[in-house]
Amino acid sequence: MENHKYSRVPSRQKNYHGDSTWQDGRSRRNMASPAIFALTALVLLSWWFGPPRFPTQEAHSHPAVDLADPFSWDQVTPSPSLEYHECFDGFLCARLDVPMDWHRQDDHGTRMAIAITRLPAKVSVTDPRYGGAILINPGGPGGSGVAQALISGHNLQTIVDAAAVPTDTAESEHRYFDIIGFDPRGVNNTTPGFSCFPSLFSQKNWELQAEADGMLGSSADSFMRNWQRAIALNTGCSQTISTPSQPGADVLGEHTNTPPVARDMLEIIERHGEWRENQGREAQRLRDKSKGYDPEQRIIARTKWQRDTEKLMYWGRSYGTVLGATFAALFPDRVERMVLDGVVDSDKYYSGVGPDPIGDADAIFDKFALYCDQVGEECPFYAAGGPAAIKKSYRELENALLNSSMSVLPSGTRGPEVATWTDLKSVLRIGVYQPLAGFPFLADIASDLLDGSGEKLADYKHARRSPSCPSDECLAAGPWSSACQVSGQNELYASSAILCSDAEYMQSADMQSFMQHWRSLQELSSSVGDYWSHVRLNCAAWSVKPKWKMSVPVTGNTSYPLLFVNNILDPVTPLQSAKHMHGAFPGSALLQQDSEGHCTLAAPSVCVSTSIRRYFQTGEQPAAGTVCDADLKPLLGNPGKIEKDHSIRSVDDVALYKALLEEAQRFRGHFPL
Ligand SMILES: *[C@@H]1O[C@H](CO)[C@@H](O)[C@H](O)[C@H]1NC(C)=O
Ligand SMILES: *[C@@H]1O[C@H](CO)[C@@H](O)[C@H](O)[C@H]1NC(C)=O
Ligand SMILES: *[C@@H]1O[C@H](CO)[C@@H](O)[C@H](O)[C@H]1NC(C)=O
Repeated sequence: MENHKYSRVPSRQKNYHGDSTWQDGRSRRNMASPAIFALTALVLLSWWFGPPRFPTQEAHSHPAVDLADPFSWDQVTPSPSLEYHECFDGFLCARLDVPMDWHRQDDHGTRMAIAITRLPAKVSVTDPRYGGAILINPGGPGGSGVAQALISGHNLQTIVDAAAVPTDTAESEHRYFDIIGFDPRGVNNTTPGFSCFPSLFSQKNWELQAEADGMLGSSADSFMRNWQRAIALNTGCSQTISTPSQPGADVLGEHTNTPPVARDMLEIIERHGEWRENQGREAQRLRDKSKGYDPEQRIIARTKWQRDTEKLMYWGRSYGTVLGATFAALFPDRVERMVLDGVVDSDKYYSGVGPDPIGDADAIFDKFALYCDQVGEECPFYAAGGPAAIKKSYRELENALLNSSMSVLPSGTRGPEVATWTDLKSVLRIGVYQPLAGFPFLADIASDLLDGSGEKLADYKHARRSPSCPSDECLAAGPWSSACQVSGQNELYASSAILCSDAEYMQSADMQSFMQHWRSLQELSSSVGDYWSHVRLNCAAWSVKPKWKMSVPVTGNTSYPLLFVNNILDPVTPLQSAKHMHGAFPGSALLQQDSEGHCTLAAPSVCVSTSIRRYFQTGEQPAAGTVCDADLKPLLGNPGKIEKDHSIRSVDDVALYKALLEEAQRFRGHFPL
């Protein structure tokens, strides 16, 4: 799509990503800003940790997305059955045609095409060991499931699949799964898309200005400026998304909230059943031809489409737990397996009633000080005098930047910069969301600032940017034309389109009530209170009402019990929320991971992953009250060294650990949930 056009301009690509290791190109498709960020962070991390080393057998490494791959979603005609096309080197892609309005009675409604990417199981779909397809969602809201499948699919598959590599002969209990990522409505490759800006160029300008103005709390006029920004953006954006593409068409903005997406998931699994049956028929025919007619027709029997009763296997994180819980509440008899990690209180999410979720965030910052103190001088931000001294030193740094940002001179690769309070706050946020990768990053950035340099922060800001020039097509076609729209770049605005219509109550905030909300969140958490207020601010003056509303409480007696997993300390989905949702779904289990950060994948835990694997393999739930250790603590351990030998014993565990470590070190971008 258009974004590829931009990202393929070779000269700019070269200038911008001057680092030669990335010219190798295999990962070029992954180079959206979060990935650049991840790269930057990993470079910094490797300084701190040294290159990861793995003791035993090299676990299979997976080729990244192929640069030369000519796949483009435009080439695929949407269809009401799943028609897969090879894409992205080893994946299969389809565009599923669905109604925009699932409740519309006549058949003149507008259609949507859901983008689907499937990582095929390690056995054929007709193999007795084929376990089915697991749908995934990365959170956001607004996160691309297609991107998640491309980036994390292999690692997620490593976690859920039987450890043993499937052999030709083995008739066994082992199960192997497809991983399916899909882009929810309004997101990335699912069409129709939308944009709040006349071109990507204009969007990038807006975002640069927002960064320069600073977030809530960054200065005396930050409140007014941010409020006015929100009104301008959201008023226009919600108008755009509620304008029908032609007279009489259904309106995208009214159908991007979560319930229709849950219904899309139901359609995906039904159509997957249909597809599986077709594969089975063909395989049976070939088998019978070569080996003689099988009177039992076993392949057909086990691949049969269970029409209207196909069941979902699902693994969602963060906002993805809202999507999962919504599905489970709407279609309780259609659940086969569901893992919800980093559990959002769906009742609070939809209705606004209940405690704000950031109450544990500062306790995670406390851990930063604690661990930094424990490793001593090896922690770049270490200060003698215990954790309290480290916290004090950090607070002073924040205050100093609040009163006066820091000038950073140009370097060989970037222009002049200022290092601001807002920048430091963003690094802190990353720290509490993903301590394993983010604490060393925070310690490094903060100590550099303390030294009066600010270069590391400036480099990071620079690397995160992805400037954009309008393409020739865009210049010719003019502002707001489809040639100027870039679907893969509107995640933040897709996030609002989903969240603000799910959480309609957020739309009604006026200045006074919003200010109160902001103040109360500041009280609740000094580390993420200001940041979290932006979630509601992003919905101020939003004015789109969804057609299919979700009612609370979100609850259901599901056909198979759910598995909730949560960190003991999570900055935005506290254990308390997980307990609440656990109570709302009879028979469900709640597994805790003794670590800090957002979602359990923020730190490797072979114990948790083995439990998730067992649940997908056999359905077995962990015993009530189970708490798993994490295999690595932020700042304290060397990720290349297997820390806790008692939990990581076998070659299989090492492969699992390696997959987990890779996920934990990958930053997740800028989504709230
Ligand atoms: C920042 O400014 C405020 C008020 O202007 C002052 O009270 C505070 O001490 C200053 N902080 C630092 C670290 O300079
Ligand atoms: C959108 O999907 C493409 C694959 O078509 C992927 O490469 C890209 O990273 C995705 N964009 C985002 C922002 O996730
Ligand atoms: C859930 O459904 C099962 C089977 O239909 C039933 O036996 C059970 O009592 C239900 N549980 C609740 C809490 O409604």
